[in-house]
Amino acid sequence: MPGWKSILLGLLSLTGSSLSCAHHDDGDVVPEHEREELLKKWDQEWSFSGIASFAHLKPVKCLIEPQERYDIAVIGAPFDTAVSYRPGARFGPRAIRAASARQMPGTAFNTRAGINPYKSWATVKDCGDIPVTPFDNAVAEEQMYQAFLELGSRPALTPSSSKYGTKGISAGKSKLLTLGGDHSVALPALRALYEIYQKPITVLHFDAHLDTWNPARYSAYWVSEQSAFNHGSFFHKASRMGLINNSTSAHAGLRTRLTGVDDSDYTNPGPEQGFMRIHADDIDELGPMGIVDRLADRIGLDPEEPVYLSLDIDVLDPSTAPGTGTPEPGGWTTRELIRILRGVEKLNIVGADIVEVSPSYDNKGETTALAAAQAAFEIITTMVKSGAGEELGGWYGRKEPVKGKKGSKGKDEL
Ligand SMILES: *[C@@H]1O[C@H](CO)[C@@H](O)[C@H](O)[C@H]1NC(C)=O
Ligand SMILES: *[C@@H]1O[C@H](CO)[C@@H](O)[C@H](O)[C@H]1NC(C)=O
Repeated sequence: MPGWKSILLGLLSLTGSSLSCAHHDDGDVVPEHEREELLKKWDQEWSFSGIASFAHLKPVKCLIEPQERYDIAVIGAPFDTAVSYRPGARFGPRAIRAASARQMPGTAFNTRAGINPYKSWATVKDCGDIPVTPFDNAVAEEQMYQAFLELGSRPALTPSSSKYGTKGISAGKSKLLTLGGDHSVALPALRALYEIYQKPITVLHFDAHLDTWNPARYSAYWVSEQSAFNHGSFFHKASRMGLINNSTSAHAGLRTRLTGVDDSDYTNPGPEQGFMRIHADDIDELGPMGIVDRLADRIGLDPEEPVYLSLDIDVLDPSTAPGTGTPEPGGWTTRELIRILRGVEKLNIVGADIVEVSPSYDNKGETTALAAAQAAFEIITTMVKSGAGEELGGWYGRKEPVKGKKGSKGKDEL
């Protein structure tokens, strides 16, 4: 239990700026001393109180506030009309925000990582949701692309000249964490990142499924250009569009249903399969840190190569995360996933998503949404820690440095 003093300090420092420009109805500015008194009395939240923004962060509709700046933006993409099985992930952002309630900025020190991501150099904001249409997937995809591009193109609050903030290709650039939504939201996100970074993006993909399927797999006779935009084919599409680096990307946690071992699902070295594969069962031989080593070896630690982390919550076992669109028994536990996420904290992650949380299949304990909120916390921690300007250690569970890809820049000093 942290001391009461630190909890109170945490509570008190939550919403410092939210009231600073309030006016009385008659237009008079609230006098300074009155303001101070109000802040002392009321400027606090409990974990169970307040508007349900992510981690009690200041919510702002960034898309209609072009002056709004941040280093990291949490953005909801409540879209679920491209799924092949259970719908419902449009309610994911709300569920993840509600489940993040115990992430009080003042008491959010991440012991595994050795940093409080909400009280460090970075300004993290909850930018609300993209108002994605449920009626037209082509329009929805364009809406998401434009929103990601707009939010991701704003200069970070922390300039590249600062001691803080990530260096290399993402220096001075803001980072987005998307709360999905079904997994197809990753396509507009990759389109936007390609535009921002002007090069193919390395994808680290946690999922039970490949999501690189040729759209023809679903219904070859009825396939259309539009039907190719779905939550099992968006990586196929993204790869064909040249958005993904085919030699550095990786799947982790696979245990998908296939049409066989000798067709295009798996063994065909087709373009859509430019991902290294780590299966869910591999954790039994390798352990979480063995998986981390394989990922680091494949992806490398080059600060000039942007990495997108895409996390389908169905990478977890349904006992851990039942509230998802396409559950597959035999997945990882939340603890294993957290450890792997901590292990890959040295990768150059420039954007991320957490998708396929479908709360109507969750339980009363919000198990799935809690896991997603924790994963979001770990990813935000990684984004903040990588710009801390100093080596913070605290790499939970291991002391020795990660082994990056041979010849990759920056591995020696890590
Ligand atoms: C993919 O990443 C590798 C390793 O960082 C890099 O050498 C290569 O240029 C990248 N490919 C493309 C097409 O950018
Ligand atoms: C990846 O492979 C696909 C299929 O061959 C190709 O269309 C795409 O251009 C490749 N991506 C890059 C970045 O080279």
